[in-house]
Amino acid sequence: MKAPHGKNHPATLATLFAQADGAIDPQTGGVVPPIQPSSTFVRDEDYQPISDGHLYGRDDNDLLRLGEQILTKAEHGEDGLLFPSGMAATAAVMRTVRTGGKILLQSGIYWGTTKWVREFCQRRDIELQEIDSSITDAHCDAIEKFAPDLVFIETPSNPWLKLVDIQAASQACQKNSAILVVDSTAATPVLSNPLDHGADIVMHSATKAINGHSDVLAGFLAVKDAGIPIWDAIKTDRHDAGALLGSFEAWLLIRGMRTLPLRVERMSESAAKIAEFLAQNGEVKEVLYPGLPTHSQFKLAKEQMKGGFGSLMSFLVKGDSSRSLEVCGKLELFKRATSLGGVESLVERRHSIEEAVDPNLIRISVGIENADELIADLTQALK
Ligand SMILES: Cc1ncc(COP(=O)(O)O)c(C=O)c1O
Repeated sequence: MKAPHGKNHPATLATLFAQADGAIDPQTGGVVPPIQPSSTFVRDEDYQPISDGHLYGRDDNDLLRLGEQILTKAEHGEDGLLFPSGMAATAAVMRTVRTGGKILLQSGIYWGTTKWVREFCQRRDIELQEIDSSITDAHCDAIEKFAPDLVFIETPSNPWLKLVDIQAASQACQKNSAILVVDSTAATPVLSNPLDHGADIVMHSATKAINGHSDVLAGFLAVKDAGIPIWDAIKTDRHDAGALLGSFEAWLLIRGMRTLPLRVERMSESAAKIAEFLAQNGEVKEVLYPGLPTHSQFKLAKEQMKGGFGSLMSFLVKGDSSRSLEVCGKLELFKRATSLGGVESLVERRHSIEEAVDPNLIRISVGIENADELIADLTQALK
């Protein structure tokens, strides 16, 4: 499915994504590779497949492989796998931990992950420790003392925008033979490559910025060294248990991904402007955005992220617990919907969904709309 490309192609993420790594329709020369809807494929009289690698739809499909190829290159990995959702990708990694094993999980991350891991560990007799992994010394200490099989971090975290020092965590994991998995959804492969900082596996909810159009669910894992035993287990299980992305979804994902670097650039620029605006607003108590020099981990953010700080931020409003509800209710351009990373800006009063979160916290995902219009919307809502 490869187009004839120049030798040194593609050198940059912009080209890799825009040209879907050079893929075309080999039959027609169409510049967009086609959806293959068949779940099964005809064999010849000797029962051999008539086209290489095409037997049954649950094995894989061409667009799934193409999506994996693009994202694996973007993450500087050796191999990558797409899943039907981010949670399916996370669950696939966690399931490799043996009964009686140990997982060290970052606290205050995406609630769906925390909930699933807690229940999974209980079911499977796995010891779970939750820790604020943004405190580097405490995190490394816990890796040493607790001796987990697997360490799972999310950086920047959702909804608190805390960063984890991946390199420090990776060194501690290496010393203690633990696997380090990084949920890098909020950063995207454009702004951060956790494998370059020593992570073993990087995970994405590709439902978010990677797709970017809020019209597909997908998850992704890439590995630094495809020879590690758990990768084989994850691959075999994904294949045999059939947790893969269909051709339609993979097509939508690849179509969305073509503009990923552009979108991330624009969203990060707008988010930075909005963060500055919110930081100056008298109704706002605190802005949580790693791109603000006032963020306690700004230095680490600059080291670990390149070309921007992403589209996700949270802020705490002054006033009682009903104030955030009032502000969210007045927003017009920001849609009140869960999720992040799409072209349209979204707002979430996280406390309404996750009771443990501070009721004054408002999380926003900045889209690609005009930043001044988004600021005007926030201005009127905060009045
Ligand atoms: C940081 C993070 N990781 C993982 C997920 C789960 O992804 P999905 O909804 O694709 O299953 C989400 C979803 O919101 C998320 O925000």
